[in-house]
Amino acid sequence: MSVAVAVFASGGGSNFQSIIDHPSSADAVDVRLLISDRPDAGALDRARTAGIASRVIPAKGRPSEDVANETLAVLAEAEIRVLLLAGYLRLIPAEVIRAFPRRILNIHPALLPAFGGRGMWGHHVHEAVLSSGATVSGPTIHYVDEEYDTGSILAQWPVPVHKDDTPDTLAARVLGVEHILYPLAAQHLCRAVEKGIPAARLSPAGAAFQIGSGFDALALEREISRSFASAEAR
Ligand code: GRF
Repeated sequence: MSVAVAVFASGGGSNFQSIIDHPSSADAVDVRLLISDRPDAGALDRARTAGIASRVIPAKGRPSEDVANETLAVLAEAEIRVLLLAGYLRLIPAEVIRAFPRRILNIHPALLPAFGGRGMWGHHVHEAVLSSGATVSGPTIHYVDEEYDTGSILAQWPVPVHKDDTPDTLAARVLGVEHILYPLAAQHLCRAVEKGIPAARLSPAGAAFQIGSGFDALALEREISRSFASAEAR
Protein backbone atom coordinates (compact mmCIF):
# COMPACT_ATOMS: atom_id res chain seq x y z
CA MET A 1 0.00 0.00 0.00
CA SER A 2 1.30 3.45 -0.79
CA VAL A 3 0.86 6.61 1.25
CA ALA A 4 -0.59 9.77 -0.35
CA VAL A 5 2.04 12.50 -0.45
CA ALA A 6 2.15 16.20 -1.34
CA VAL A 7 5.45 17.83 -2.34
CA PHE A 8 5.96 21.56 -1.63
CA ALA A 9 8.43 23.43 -3.87
CA SER A 10 9.19 27.09 -4.63
CA GLY A 11 11.87 26.55 -7.27
CA GLY A 12 13.08 24.29 -10.05
CA GLY A 13 11.92 21.08 -8.42
CA SER A 14 14.77 18.69 -9.24
CA ASN A 15 14.19 16.94 -5.90
CA PHE A 16 10.47 16.63 -6.68
CA GLN A 17 11.48 15.05 -10.00
CA SER A 18 13.85 12.60 -8.31
CA ILE A 19 11.05 11.46 -5.97
CA ILE A 20 8.49 10.89 -8.72
CA ASP A 21 11.07 9.24 -11.03
CA HIS A 22 12.46 6.81 -8.47
CA PRO A 23 11.64 3.30 -9.76
CA SER A 24 10.67 1.84 -6.39
CA SER A 25 8.81 4.91 -5.06
CA ALA A 26 5.43 3.79 -6.36
CA ASP A 27 5.28 0.89 -3.87
CA ALA A 28 5.35 3.24 -0.89
CA VAL A 29 5.01 6.84 -2.06
CA ASP A 30 1.98 8.07 -4.01
CA VAL A 31 2.81 11.66 -5.01
CA ARG A 32 -0.64 13.11 -5.66
CA LEU A 33 -0.01 16.81 -5.42
CA LEU A 34 2.60 19.51 -5.98
CA ILE A 35 2.04 22.71 -4.01
CA SER A 36 3.95 25.90 -4.73
CA ASP A 37 3.80 29.42 -3.33
CA ARG A 38 5.06 30.81 -6.67
CA PRO A 39 3.16 30.66 -9.95
CA ASP A 40 6.47 30.69 -11.89
CA ALA A 41 8.09 27.74 -10.06
CA GLY A 42 9.75 25.29 -12.47
CA ALA A 43 8.39 22.48 -10.30
CA LEU A 44 4.87 23.29 -11.60
CA ASP A 45 5.97 22.52 -15.19
CA ARG A 46 7.46 19.25 -14.00
CA ALA A 47 4.14 18.34 -12.32
CA ARG A 48 2.19 19.13 -15.50
CA THR A 49 4.58 17.01 -17.58
CA ALA A 50 4.26 14.12 -15.12
CA GLY A 51 0.45 14.43 -14.97
CA ILE A 52 0.49 15.23 -11.24
CA ALA A 53 -2.09 17.71 -9.90
CA SER A 54 -0.66 21.02 -8.72
CA ARG A 55 -1.88 24.04 -6.77
CA VAL A 56 -0.40 27.49 -6.27
CA ILE A 57 -1.03 28.70 -2.72
CA PRO A 58 0.50 32.19 -2.38
CA ALA A 59 1.95 32.89 1.07
CA LYS A 60 3.74 36.24 0.83
CA GLY A 61 1.91 39.05 2.63
CA ARG A 62 -1.07 36.83 3.58
CA PRO A 63 -2.10 36.09 7.18
CA SER A 64 -0.68 32.73 8.15
CA GLU A 65 -4.16 31.58 9.18
CA ASP A 66 -5.49 32.05 5.63
CA VAL A 67 -2.56 30.14 4.15
CA ALA A 68 -3.08 27.39 6.74
CA ASN A 69 -6.81 27.07 6.03
CA GLU A 70 -6.33 26.94 2.28
CA THR A 71 -3.46 24.44 2.59
CA LEU A 72 -5.36 22.18 5.00
CA ALA A 73 -8.42 22.17 2.72
CA VAL A 74 -6.34 21.23 -0.35
CA LEU A 75 -4.51 18.49 1.56
CA ALA A 76 -7.74 17.08 3.00
CA GLU A 77 -9.39 16.97 -0.41
CA ALA A 78 -6.53 14.84 -1.79
CA GLU A 79 -6.40 12.73 1.43
CA ILE A 80 -2.71 13.55 1.87
CA ARG A 81 -0.89 11.90 4.80
CA VAL A 82 2.74 12.99 4.30
CA LEU A 83 4.24 16.33 3.19
CA LEU A 84 7.70 16.61 1.60
CA LEU A 85 9.29 20.06 1.33
CA ALA A 86 11.76 20.23 -1.54
CA GLY A 87 13.16 23.71 -2.03
CA TYR A 88 10.10 25.33 -0.41
CA LEU A 89 11.17 28.72 0.89
CA ARG A 90 8.27 29.60 3.24
CA LEU A 91 7.57 28.56 6.82
CA ILE A 92 4.77 26.00 7.09
CA PRO A 93 1.98 27.47 9.29
CA ALA A 94 1.73 26.06 12.81
CA GLU A 95 -1.80 24.71 12.21
CA VAL A 96 -0.51 22.58 9.33
CA ILE A 97 2.43 21.31 11.40
CA ARG A 98 0.04 20.32 14.19
CA ALA A 99 -2.17 18.45 11.73
CA PHE A 100 0.77 16.34 10.44
CA PRO A 101 2.93 15.43 13.46
CA ARG A 102 6.21 13.84 12.28
CA ARG A 103 4.70 13.59 8.82
CA ILE A 104 6.48 16.60 7.25
CA LEU A 105 10.06 16.36 5.96
CA ASN A 106 12.39 18.99 4.53
CA ILE A 107 15.71 18.59 2.72
CA HIS A 108 18.56 21.01 3.45
CA PRO A 109 21.83 21.02 1.48
CA ALA A 110 24.26 20.97 4.46
CA LEU A 111 24.83 18.97 7.63
CA LEU A 112 22.46 20.55 10.17
CA PRO A 113 22.48 21.83 12.86
CA ALA A 114 25.35 23.81 11.25
CA PHE A 115 24.63 26.10 8.28
CA GLY A 116 20.86 26.35 8.75
CA GLY A 117 18.28 28.95 9.76
CA ARG A 118 16.61 31.95 8.17
CA GLY A 119 18.43 33.17 5.06
CA MET A 120 20.40 29.93 4.74
CA TRP A 121 19.27 28.64 1.38
CA GLY A 122 20.83 27.98 -2.02
CA HIS A 123 24.30 29.39 -2.59
CA HIS A 124 24.31 31.08 0.88
CA VAL A 125 24.58 27.64 2.47
CA HIS A 126 27.49 26.45 0.31
CA GLU A 127 29.35 29.78 0.67
CA ALA A 128 29.10 29.44 4.47
CA VAL A 129 30.35 25.84 4.36
CA LEU A 130 33.35 26.83 2.21
CA SER A 131 34.27 29.84 4.35
CA SER A 132 34.12 27.70 7.51
CA GLY A 133 36.87 25.42 6.16
CA ALA A 134 34.67 22.31 6.71
CA THR A 135 35.98 19.26 4.84
CA VAL A 136 32.62 17.44 4.82
CA SER A 137 29.15 18.68 3.86
CA GLY A 138 26.07 16.80 2.65
CA PRO A 139 22.28 16.81 2.70
CA THR A 140 20.12 16.64 5.83
CA ILE A 141 16.51 15.43 5.85
CA HIS A 142 14.65 16.55 8.95
CA TYR A 143 11.12 16.78 10.34
CA VAL A 144 9.62 20.24 10.01
CA ASP A 145 8.72 22.33 13.04
CA GLU A 146 7.79 25.98 13.39
CA GLU A 147 11.33 27.34 12.79
CA TYR A 148 13.69 27.11 9.83
CA ASP A 149 15.86 23.95 9.83
CA THR A 150 15.53 23.02 13.54
CA GLY A 151 13.33 19.89 13.50
CA SER A 152 14.78 16.52 14.46
CA ILE A 153 16.95 14.79 11.90
CA LEU A 154 15.85 11.67 10.02
CA ALA A 155 18.78 11.22 7.62
CA GLN A 156 22.09 12.79 6.62
CA TRP A 157 24.74 11.69 4.17
CA PRO A 158 28.34 12.96 4.06
CA VAL A 159 29.75 14.54 0.92
CA PRO A 160 33.40 15.60 0.80
CA VAL A 161 34.31 19.26 0.27
CA HIS A 162 37.22 19.61 -2.18
CA LYS A 163 39.97 22.21 -1.80
CA ASP A 164 39.16 23.80 -5.15
CA ASP A 165 35.34 23.80 -4.67
CA THR A 166 33.26 26.84 -5.53
CA PRO A 167 29.70 27.21 -4.14
CA ASP A 168 28.46 25.87 -7.51
CA THR A 169 30.65 22.76 -7.64
CA LEU A 170 29.85 21.90 -4.02
CA ALA A 171 26.11 22.53 -4.59
CA ALA A 172 26.13 20.19 -7.60
CA ARG A 173 27.88 17.39 -5.65
CA VAL A 174 25.47 17.71 -2.70
CA LEU A 175 22.44 17.92 -5.03
CA GLY A 176 23.50 14.68 -6.74
CA VAL A 177 23.31 12.95 -3.35
CA GLU A 178 20.02 14.69 -2.45
CA HIS A 179 18.46 13.08 -5.52
CA ILE A 180 19.30 9.63 -4.16
CA LEU A 181 18.74 10.27 -0.45
CA TYR A 182 15.35 12.04 -0.61
CA PRO A 183 13.39 9.42 -2.59
CA LEU A 184 14.72 6.70 -0.27
CA ALA A 185 13.95 8.75 2.86
CA ALA A 186 10.43 9.41 1.55
CA GLN A 187 9.91 5.66 1.05
CA HIS A 188 11.32 4.98 4.53
CA LEU A 189 8.91 7.45 6.19
CA CYS A 190 5.92 6.27 4.14
CA ARG A 191 6.59 2.61 5.03
CA ALA A 192 6.71 3.60 8.72
CA VAL A 193 3.49 5.64 8.42
CA GLU A 194 1.78 2.70 6.74
CA LYS A 195 2.84 0.44 9.62
CA GLY A 196 1.88 3.07 12.21
CA ILE A 197 5.39 3.18 13.71
CA PRO A 198 7.96 6.00 14.04
CA ALA A 199 10.58 6.06 11.26
CA ALA A 200 14.05 5.08 12.54
CA ARG A 201 16.89 7.54 12.06
CA LEU A 202 19.42 6.48 9.43
CA SER A 203 23.07 5.83 10.40
CA PRO A 204 25.24 6.79 7.44
CA ALA A 205 27.86 4.25 6.33
CA GLY A 206 31.50 5.37 6.35
CA ALA A 207 31.96 4.17 2.78
CA ALA A 208 30.06 7.23 1.61
CA PHE A 209 33.12 9.33 2.31
CA GLN A 210 34.60 7.78 -0.85
CA ILE A 211 32.30 9.89 -3.06
CA GLY A 212 34.38 11.82 -5.58
CA SER A 213 33.25 14.35 -8.18
CA GLY A 214 32.11 11.60 -10.52
CA PHE A 215 30.67 9.30 -7.86
CA ASP A 216 29.03 6.02 -8.74
CA ALA A 217 25.33 6.81 -8.23
CA LEU A 218 24.23 3.17 -8.31
CA ALA A 219 26.79 2.11 -5.70
CA LEU A 220 25.77 5.05 -3.51
CA GLU A 221 22.10 4.17 -3.91
CA ARG A 222 22.82 0.58 -2.81
CA GLU A 223 24.74 1.86 0.22
CA ILE A 224 21.99 4.29 1.24
CA SER A 225 19.27 1.65 0.70
CA ARG A 226 21.23 -0.77 2.90
CA SER A 227 21.46 1.86 5.63
CA PHE A 228 17.69 2.49 5.53
CA ALA A 229 17.03 -1.28 5.56
CA SER A 230 19.23 -1.72 8.63
CA ALA A 231 17.54 1.25 10.34
CA GLU A 232 14.18 -0.45 9.68
CA ALA A 233 15.45 -3.77 11.05
CA ARG A 234 16.66 -2.23 14.34
C1 GRF B 1 17.97 21.81 -2.71
O1 GRF B 1 19.35 22.05 -2.67
C2 GRF B 1 17.42 21.56 -1.33
O2 GRF B 1 18.35 20.98 -0.46
C3 GRF B 1 17.09 22.94 -0.85
O3 GRF B 1 16.66 23.64 -1.99
C4 GRF B 1 17.19 23.04 -3.17
C5 GRF B 1 16.03 22.71 -4.04
O4 GRF B 1 16.42 22.33 -5.31
N1 GRF B 1 16.13 22.92 0.21
P1 GRF B 1 15.35 21.77 -6.35
O5 GRF B 1 14.28 22.85 -6.51
O6 GRF B 1 14.79 20.51 -5.79
O7 GRF B 1 16.10 21.57 -7.61
